[in-house]
Amino acid sequence: MTVPKTDPQPTQPAGVPGRTKQHALPSYLDQDNLGPWAIYLEQVERVTPYLGKLAYWVETLKRPKRILVVDVPIHLDDGSVAHFEGYRVQHNTSRGPAKGGVRYHQDVTLSEVMALSAWMTVKNAAVNLPYGGGKGGIRVDPRTLSTSELERLTRRYTTEIGIIIGPDKDIPAPDVNTNPQVMAWMMDTYSMNVGRTATGVVTGKPISLGGSLGRGDATGRGVFVTGAEAMNRLGIAVEGARVAIQGFGNVGNAAGRIFYDHGASIVAIQDVSGTFYCESGIDPYQAQTYLREHGTLQGLPNVETIEREAFWSVPCDVLVPAALENQITELNAPVINAKVIVEGANGPTTPAADDLLRERGVLVVPDVLANAGGVTVSYFEWVQDFSSFFWTEEEINARLDRIMREAFSSLWDVAQRHKVTLRTAAFIVACTRVLESRALRGLYP
Ligand SMILES: NC(=O)c1ccc[n+]([C@@H]2O[C@H](COP(=O)([O-])OP(=O)(O)OC[C@H]3O[C@@H](n4cnc5c(N)ncnc54)[C@H](O)[C@@H]3O)[C@@H](O)[C@H]2O)c1
Repeated sequence: MTVPKTDPQPTQPAGVPGRTKQHALPSYLDQDNLGPWAIYLEQVERVTPYLGKLAYWVETLKRPKRILVVDVPIHLDDGSVAHFEGYRVQHNTSRGPAKGGVRYHQDVTLSEVMALSAWMTVKNAAVNLPYGGGKGGIRVDPRTLSTSELERLTRRYTTEIGIIIGPDKDIPAPDVNTNPQVMAWMMDTYSMNVGRTATGVVTGKPISLGGSLGRGDATGRGVFVTGAEAMNRLGIAVEGARVAIQGFGNVGNAAGRIFYDHGASIVAIQDVSGTFYCESGIDPYQAQTYLREHGTLQGLPNVETIEREAFWSVPCDVLVPAALENQITELNAPVINAKVIVEGANGPTTPAADDLLRERGVLVVPDVLANAGGVTVSYFEWVQDFSSFFWTEEEINARLDRIMREAFSSLWDVAQRHKVTLRTAAFIVACTRVLESRALRGLYP
């Protein structure tokens, strides 16, 4: 565990009741190769000095409440049987049921699912949603499966984790490589097993099955709202601002369109197909149509194709990483030429890069705040499903904007007060909320 380099460390206040004994790392993790869980643990270490008496309970954040590892056997279309590794991790449920997505990816590991579930605990508490944190995953490359194989995989996985999920226990949602159709299969499987239609067991469903209006663009919308708040604090106008976006999928595409709608200029887009630059701005609607028609951004008219690495040094006001983890590192943080970074992706910036960016005066709006728009509208979906009463898109967007603005504002104040980054501020606010609930509930028995 490294000592924080830049955030000032307050001394531990007197009167902290006998700090809980530090426990060894659990035996089910590879001590020498901790993976993403190590990043999360380092973030918790950084925030502990700010937790006051609640630091007594901090060890509860360093281990998930519940981990379920399941075997997912399915018949392949050729008649053979394949086995896949599946996980569901409930990191914390002190403030409410676990909530978090399900990822289908060939590189899924327990460490990754643990870290993603813990970041959901932090995210939900940072924007004050009444949830704990959870995450699930299957170690599979879904591109290798037919649609019927994918459906069988989803149904068997849902049945295996069915003993711990439920509308008031743990509510999955889409993540990388899962979508509204996968959520529909999960909802149907759970419903068949419990003998009633339980729409509230997952969010991110198709609208016709109890999904919510506004969910599709919600994460990108939250990126815009928190980005605009950050720009406002720095005296940068959105109109005419230069924006560079990595990732042109659900999050990056929506964020790009909404920035554009407010008069910003999208000067660079990078996705798997390449890196595209236009000094006078790219029309994201045209890019979206072109991508839909051609399956790639290669060949998009009126743009210049540049080297992948050149993306990071494009002069801009706002940089939106909206693709993968570990994109902004010690290697490219020194050349980043942006005033604000708004993290649409989960975990795009390493802790070392965070320190470099702070030293260079680049403001980072952290993932646990910037991309919380998705889970916020998932929360609205869950509430609408419980009441079977559905809101208009205007009501949803207005409520989303208000929650995101208020969350930004309270984290900004905490960051100013403690002279820390917005990420540390988000962890201070979130961990305080989670540990207050833990302290009030006490330890059972
Ligand atoms: N979808 C949501 O509601 C949501 C909510 C919170 C966080 N996130 C996070 O946002 C990120 C993106 O999610 P999404 O739903 O937009 O995914 P997506 O699959 O719709 O889009 C991913 C985009 O990243 C691009 N990409 C992939 N590899 C790349 C690479 N090596 N270099 C450059 N671009 C690359 C792809 O081309 C694609 O444009 C993920 O980290 C996800 O966990 C998503």
